[in-house]
Amino acid sequence: MRSSELLQMKIFLIGFMGSGKTHRGRQLSQKLNLPFFDLDEQIVNSEGKSINRIFEEEGEEYFRLKEKEVLNIITESHSSFIMACGGGAPCYFNNIEYMNQSGVTVWLNTPLQTLFKRLAKERDQRPLLKSLTDVQLNTFIIRKFSDRKIYYEQAKVLIEDDEHITLDQIIEKIFHA
Ligand code: S3P
Repeated sequence: MRSSELLQMKIFLIGFMGSGKTHRGRQLSQKLNLPFFDLDEQIVNSEGKSINRIFEEEGEEYFRLKEKEVLNIITESHSSFIMACGGGAPCYFNNIEYMNQSGVTVWLNTPLQTLFKRLAKERDQRPLLKSLTDVQLNTFIIRKFSDRKIYYEQAKVLIEDDEHITLDQIIEKIFHA
């Protein structure tokens, strides 16, 4: 794939919470000069409340419906972008098939120990993790990851170790998808 074609791409970053989707998404957007969307942030803007509050007041099922709706709206209304998707986004409805039909999906498969280290520091901001102890968090990551792997594995591009790969190497892999 040539760089001129890349400018007409819809790139979906997927992976577990804490895998670095927002961070890498912003970097890719700057480097490739494509608009960046954080799916969670777009949901927060459209609902006028935090993800935590949406879960508390409306429940997870409502959140998943909104997530799908906002994913569809952004995807249909823009020809090119980088999108950081929430960790559960590819695992509900037909979202992963939809993303694969609409553009290039990139799975940041960050090692579980790294996810644990990152998420242990940030659990208050995440409704699914808020009340967990360290031991519970560890078990949660292992179980949830094993449930979600079959969806993440459908990504067209696999980034194995986000901490040790350069941005240019990620771009190279996307170009060759
Ligand atoms: C979720 C991940 C979060 C957010 C919500 C649910 C999940 O996004 O969408 O808290 O089910 O894995 P990040 O992966 O950006 O943290």
